Amino acid sequence: MHRLGSSPSSSETSSAIILSLSILISFLNVTSAAAFNVSTISFNDGYTPLFADFNIHRSSDGRSANLLLNRYAGSGFISSKYYDYGFFSAKIKLPANYTAGVVVAFYTSNVDVFEKNHDELDIEFLGNVKGKPWRFQTNVYGNGSTSRGREERYNLWFDPTKNFHQYSILWTSDKIIFYVDGVPIREVVRNEAMGGDYPSKPMSLYATIWDASSWATSGGRYRVRYEYEPFVSEFTDFVLEGCAVNPLEQLPDSMDCLEKKAKLETAEHADITPEGRHAMKWFRERYMYYSYCYDTLRYPIQLPECLIVPSEQLRFKENGRLKFGVIPRRHRRGRAGRRKVTRESSDRDTAM
Ligand SMILES: *[C@@H]1O[C@H](CO)[C@@H](O)[C@H](O)[C@H]1NC(C)=O
Ligand SMILES: *[C@@H]1O[C@H](CO)[C@@H](O)[C@H](O)[C@H]1NC(C)=O
Ligand SMILES: *[C@@H]1O[C@H](CO)[C@@H](O)[C@H](O)[C@H]1NC(C)=O
Repeated sequence: MHRLGSSPSSSETSSAIILSLSILISFLNVTSAAAFNVSTISFNDGYTPLFADFNIHRSSDGRSANLLLNRYAGSGFISSKYYDYGFFSAKIKLPANYTAGVVVAFYTSNVDVFEKNHDELDIEFLGNVKGKPWRFQTNVYGNGSTSRGREERYNLWFDPTKNFHQYSILWTSDKIIFYVDGVPIREVVRNEAMGGDYPSKPMSLYATIWDASSWATSGGRYRVRYEYEPFVSEFTDFVLEGCAVNPLEQLPDSMDCLEKKAKLETAEHADITPEGRHAMKWFRERYMYYSYCYDTLRYPIQLPECLIVPSEQLRFKENGRLKFGVIPRRHRRGRAGRRKVTRESSDRDTAM
């Protein structure tokens, strides 16, 4: 797990997300078309406890599991196998109420096998003070490229604590797609110039909840408050697709490995449809509040996989911060909720 060296401020917005009717309609058209044709598995069929087994509560039918964070420990599970490319998905419901400092992560990694040159694909949810929305970030590391953060940060268009929502990572030999409820939110197309920065060694799937008091919410200003324990993150509809292998020998476990890879690469969700592109644009132009690709202070020379999308770039200043509705720093000290701030002005503060 890696993080932005962030120093967000207190003026995060608590205003509700308002969708215009036309946006809502275009979004609904997309999601109804984007249901994945995949089968779900039980917890025991795919996963094993990673740490603090006592804080992992499995449902009696074995189809779901809750991960708890309390004053004794966080908790986590890991896929029992490593996958040589794959599709990883789960429906997740995040803890409600006061969750500042809490991080829920759903990610692939092989750091346990390749300590110095691991690969990783992250979806990390960042808790917040009561009444303020969870945010999340995605990241990509290949072969230990942890000095080249490829973070993007976003808001969600729904409250992730009210219901289960589906979060998915597609990883093939030529592209990575992150999905939320079937909406592609980020695509990384492999580029020759990325070299080893493109994750290409077998990874397992991890899910964890942990105390990230020192950085997760407003740069560590709001810590986990254990009077609200336990923090419970619920997981269900587990999907693990791909070719299971021994990560060191990289020999397929099964004869049908080639078939599984072919199935993965030809699956509908391995390509973004025109409707999917439309939804991705909709999402990124409204909910993305940081992308390393637009952060020219950090990367004066863009990393090679970055595709500059003018309508996205418009949102950001030269330094990568959101540029709309900016409220001068000296005016941002008042009590939360007093002042009407735009979504963008508050988002800007939390970028990096
Ligand atoms: C879903 O996948 C199965 C097995 O891979 C296939 O037989 C079936 O035709 C697919 N269904 C649709 C609607 O694509
Ligand atoms: C959140 O807080 C309210 C009021 O304190 C309580 O009724 C509710 O059960 C809490 N929800 C969760 C998920 O803890
Ligand atoms: C990955 O890193 C290892 C160790 O640093 C290096 O030997 C290897 O060449 C790298 N692989 C790629 C594809 O860059």
